[in-house]
Amino acid sequence: MAITLDAKTVRLAKTGLAYFGGVVVLYWLLRLLQAVFAIFIQPGKSLRKFGPKGSWVVITGASDGIGKEYAYQLAAKGFNILLISRTASKLEEIGKDLESKHSIKTEFLPIDFAANRDEDYKKIAAAVDGKDVAILVNNVGKSYDMPTPFLITEDHVMKEIITINCLATLRVTQIVVPGMVSRKRGLILTMGSFAGLTPTPLLAAYSGSKAFLSTWSAALAAELAPYGVDVDLITCYLVTSAMSKVRRTSMTIPNPRAFVRAALGKIGVYVGNSTGVSTPFWSHGVMHWAMENIAGLGSSSLIKVNKSMHEDIRKRALKKQERDAKKQ
Ligand SMILES: NC(=O)c1ccc[n+]([C@@H]2O[C@H](COP(=O)([O-])OP(=O)(O)OC[C@H]3O[C@@H](n4cnc5c(N)ncnc54)[C@H](OP(=O)(O)O)[C@@H]3O)[C@@H](O)[C@H]2O)c1
Repeated sequence: MAITLDAKTVRLAKTGLAYFGGVVVLYWLLRLLQAVFAIFIQPGKSLRKFGPKGSWVVITGASDGIGKEYAYQLAAKGFNILLISRTASKLEEIGKDLESKHSIKTEFLPIDFAANRDEDYKKIAAAVDGKDVAILVNNVGKSYDMPTPFLITEDHVMKEIITINCLATLRVTQIVVPGMVSRKRGLILTMGSFAGLTPTPLLAAYSGSKAFLSTWSAALAAELAPYGVDVDLITCYLVTSAMSKVRRTSMTIPNPRAFVRAALGKIGVYVGNSTGVSTPFWSHGVMHWAMENIAGLGSSSLIKVNKSMHEDIRKRALKKQERDAKKQ
């Protein structure tokens, strides 16, 4: 049976729909404007809020890539730097270079976080004892040499990913942060990844470890807020480095210098829905917003795209491995 509506009801329904549509469009416009503001305009908190010139920064994974760049840019801002990674010679050289370029102090600790040795953590505790540590950069991380299905991931790779990415970050933070709490100021930056924002097949353990850091970092942020300590997870797509094996920069792949400059300029600025997750490089911010609002983080369509991208990378890496083997 057909329902007939009088002209007034039809007019009312049309007006209601138009208002509803208007509200929806306005809502999305506001969200878009908010993101544009966060990505392109909103400045981050001043680093001076966290410690004066001459206070210290602790950086893990400081001898290469993003960690090394944090060391250079924070030294240029007058912070003393405690550098930690495995290779003493690289750390010593970087320390000397930093001291000669900026009038700051540096110290270094050669530590292999994969070994998870209590003595190493005691060394870190001794090194930070009595220092005014303003900033902790939890940068050290391990990924796969190439995308690998989980079932054939070697035992040692799996253990190293979890020990370095998760356990070392937690242990270093427990050592460094009590001083910040007692001084009622400080900043903890932890390196996340897009692999932690959205499940990444063929990097399953790495993806899980970065998602772990994201959840841990957000929980810690709420615990430390009353003590004046800020906690941000810094997330990104690709950055040129030894780990990413990408050498050429592009609009979506900055070098460590551009990436760290963006990260230090966007402390406390968040593009996505999750407070405490900073996506500082502009094109990564656009990608984060689109993944969250258009595809949906963790949606099956996004995971599918991610899977085929990593399958392609694996195919190419295996072919290269074959070519290299033939050359020998
Ligand atoms: N590059 C990217 O595209 C990208 C994307 C997303 C997230 N990230 C994250 O960004 C962080 C830095 O990555 P990156 O690309 O700068 O890496 P990288 O260039 O390979 O540098 C890694 C640093 O960590 C140190 N390191 C490695 N294993 C260690 C261990 N077992 N113990 C102590 N130090 C160790 C290395 O120095 P030694 O060899 O001297 O120990 C080096 O200083 C990681 O957490 C990574 O997951 C990077």
